[in-house]
Amino acid sequence: MCRPDYFDIEYEINPWMHKENQVNHSRAMKQWQVLYDAYKEYGVEVELIEQIKGLPDMTFTANGGIVSGNTFVVNKHRFKERAGEERYFEEWFKGRGFKTYRLKYFQGGEGDALFFRDILYMGYGFRSDRESHDEVAQILGIKTISLRLIDPYFYDFDTAFCPLGDKAVLYYPLSFDPPSRKKVMELPGAIAMTKIQAESFIGNSVLVGDILFAGYKDSDLEEKLKPLGIGIKMFDMSEFKKSGGGIKCLTLYMDH
Ligand code: ARG
Repeated sequence: MCRPDYFDIEYEINPWMHKENQVNHSRAMKQWQVLYDAYKEYGVEVELIEQIKGLPDMTFTANGGIVSGNTFVVNKHRFKERAGEERYFEEWFKGRGFKTYRLKYFQGGEGDALFFRDILYMGYGFRSDRESHDEVAQILGIKTISLRLIDPYFYDFDTAFCPLGDKAVLYYPLSFDPPSRKKVMELPGAIAMTKIQAESFIGNSVLVGDILFAGYKDSDLEEKLKPLGIGIKMFDMSEFKKSGGGIKCLTLYMDH
């Protein structure tokens, strides 16, 4: 994670961001701290990278790259506004003994790549190039499945696809083109989100044990998760939503 010391809306690179809708800094710090404290309380080990001034979106560590074992694939930002972040994530991982790789094509880190049952599901269409998936598959020696994103509000795959361990996966049907939607629907344990759930960034939740850390809940979602033995813990992520981000965006998984 990355404490949002310099988090702000300094540019607009997704439809949620509006420069006139400024971040309340102290509220953002509090919201982030509540999430951090909850991870610790639930026994999650959290590592921190320091935010660099002038890189307001660096707090969204999910976009930093992809971790697999002792390998870190540095993301390649499509937007120049965020490209400055790349070397800091690369240095951080290098400094901790990871093997790091750079990509030729654009790729949004874990924002556009999530493991489910040992296959890396990867989004493309907004932040990532389809070609980057082959690069990542080759570097990591793993199988990838490419899914095309079509709704600009769900520009990052991790806003529309949320693995629940190996048990199931929450997904938002309308964010995928028809062939990709079909692939996702047919996954074991695929659970469709409603529009309101998706727009409330349920796709951007994080499963901790059998608790879903989420920014929203309703009875439909509770009913869908109950048979899986999954409960919901709620967080107010309103300041990060102004930037088009949520819980998963603030979290880079390092345990695969
Ligand atoms: N403002 C950031 C951007 O547009 C938000 C990133 C959210 N990250 C994520 N993994 N979905 O790049």
